[in-house]
Amino acid sequence: MRTPIIAGNWKMNLTIAEAIELVDGIHYGLPFPGEVDIIVAPPFLCLQKVAEHLQESYIGVAAQNLHVEDQGAFTGECSGKQIKDAGADYVIVGHSERRQYVAETDEIVNKKLKAALRNGLTPIMCVGEILEEREKGQVASVIGRQLTVGLLELTPEQVSGIIIAYEPVWAIGTGKTAKSDQVEDAHRLIRFSLSMKFGGQVGGSVRILYGGSVKPDNSGELLALPNVDGALVGGASLKASDFIEIIKSME
Ligand code: 13P
Repeated sequence: MRTPIIAGNWKMNLTIAEAIELVDGIHYGLPFPGEVDIIVAPPFLCLQKVAEHLQESYIGVAAQNLHVEDQGAFTGECSGKQIKDAGADYVIVGHSERRQYVAETDEIVNKKLKAALRNGLTPIMCVGEILEEREKGQVASVIGRQLTVGLLELTPEQVSGIIIAYEPVWAIGTGKTAKSDQVEDAHRLIRFSLSMKFGGQVGGSVRILYGGSVKPDNSGELLALPNVDGALVGGASLKASDFIEIIKSME
């Protein structure tokens, strides 16, 4: 059994006070979440405050990025060691916005996954194609490359602890959700690829989340798909009532 996950990626939104208000709103609105892991990913500046605030709660905390090294002369960066120290247990790696805006490559994603694992953080590794790649029929090859290079030199045991998020880039922040068959096909492909590389047990146990314009009105259908184990939610995770509705649609 794969325990479902609903994760909120806040991106570059919310002040510290707004962040605390949001997580309080989730708690008050949903005191008992049931059999689902809930994670929020605040920006670095709120990370420690949010993690402290959530210490006794059911909500886990993720950073949105980390550096490949654990310390050193890397102005403006944060390491896995510091993220762990700030109280987070998860970290998003290889989000498409980082691949797109700061040229994060599959090789960098691979180094970041290793940095996360070495520091005891559970990575949420993002994969997904851009629209042009989908139109050219390259979905399988793009995802295959992202997984092959991204997971290079990792052991089956390490991979079994990773969370994967399939986020088709054309569906992020656009209101264009991928259709159910597109999502299920991609998730099945990811699972198959993991099974081929790391064994059937790993392929069968890794949790694969869908991300891209997940909202309360489409989450029920997406989360019911057999190979979808939850969602990585952007915009709709910034409003407690929407985030709660998405969590509830998982039940
Ligand atoms: P939206 O839900 O705003 O489309 O963002 C998805 C995402 O990028 C989550 O990481």
